[in-house]
Amino acid sequence: MARLPPFRIEQWMDEYQPTAKHDLGETCSASLSIDGLLALSENKDATASDILNSAAIQDYGEIRGTTALRNNLSRLYSTKVGTPLAPDNILITPGAIAANHLVFYALIKDGDHVICHWPTYQQLVTVPESLGAVVDKWHSKPHDNWLPDFEELKAMVKDNTKLIVLNNPQNPTGAVLPKSLLVKIIDFAESKGIILLSDEVYRPLFHGISPMDKDFPPSILSMGYNNTIATGSLSKAYALAGIRTGWIASRNKDVIEKCQLTRDYTTISVSKLDQAVASFALSPDTIHALLSRNIQLAKTNLELLDRFIVKHDEFCSYVKPVAGTTAFVKFERDGKPIDAVALCKAVHEKAGVLLLPGDLGFGDEFKGYVRFGYVNQTAIVKDGLEELRKFMRKEFDDLPVCE
Ligand SMILES: Cc1ncc(COP(=O)(O)O)c(C=O)c1O
Repeated sequence: MARLPPFRIEQWMDEYQPTAKHDLGETCSASLSIDGLLALSENKDATASDILNSAAIQDYGEIRGTTALRNNLSRLYSTKVGTPLAPDNILITPGAIAANHLVFYALIKDGDHVICHWPTYQQLVTVPESLGAVVDKWHSKPHDNWLPDFEELKAMVKDNTKLIVLNNPQNPTGAVLPKSLLVKIIDFAESKGIILLSDEVYRPLFHGISPMDKDFPPSILSMGYNNTIATGSLSKAYALAGIRTGWIASRNKDVIEKCQLTRDYTTISVSKLDQAVASFALSPDTIHALLSRNIQLAKTNLELLDRFIVKHDEFCSYVKPVAGTTAFVKFERDGKPIDAVALCKAVHEKAGVLLLPGDLGFGDEFKGYVRFGYVNQTAIVKDGLEELRKFMRKEFDDLPVCE
């Protein structure tokens, strides 16, 4: 078994985020305080101490996650579907990062083959590799609105393909795998007996596609195939990364039991205080206002980013995101990709703006790409783009390009 390689995005954020004056790298919707969450809620009688006290005494609590939180999640996965998802089919984890890790650890063994939708969060490739799997990347195509090609997926499957990993909505592109493609993937995976894992941590932050659209993507759990797993958390769409609360949900109870077997060794239980905040956020009194705040923030800020791209279209291009919090922007000069690491380091040093170099985060095939996180507070995004504009005017011509 290989050891885990450095997690390049996390290292970059750790190094550059604390000293950035203008954070255009953040992938969480502008994070809320408990008071901010209470102010959004329709439950005007609730107080911070009510939330804390709902966690009662500070024992380990319910090992797999509190009933209140799992009931709320069960309700969310059960709307508009024929078969509700039982709370027992959900495990609470410390964030989606732990959820993904547990799924891989529970299911993948030496010699397995895994296919992973790409580009995406590095973890989804390197963890199964570290467990001895061969991972092949199923590439989204920038020229096709970041859609991957279904025929390519079919050709990639082998006799030992254990898992197909999707990230929907996708980090870093902000694209979605549309319903019509998901239907094909599900039918195909079912015919081959392959398990589908969908990292849905950016769900349901849809701001450029309407739920009325015939291709609006449902959760992977809502598509009638038992061997599906969704991971998610409160971090991105719900603006509460600090409570480190995520989940694994599956239609297949056997998968949940396998994950729990591993989870007993790593987690015992998740903080009761964190889960109390999460339950409050996902309760019917709060979730609607919370999501509409974040979707509105995404729409407003994406218009600012879009204006920036249009204004600098000589150097920048992108496929406008329809969901999530990130945009993947290509910077070129004289038809050559800019050295994105040099750009991001210089803009941090000279203008205090945090961005993420695409090749560092997602590999050499993304030379010239830069990931923006644009669902921070509007004032931060506005000021950051203004500083970036000034930087571009003064410094862009001197940046190295990739040969
Ligand atoms: C696709 C994806 N999955 C999982 C995570 C981990 O999120 P968390 O552990 O905060 O839920 C991230 C964080 O950036 C992500 O982008």
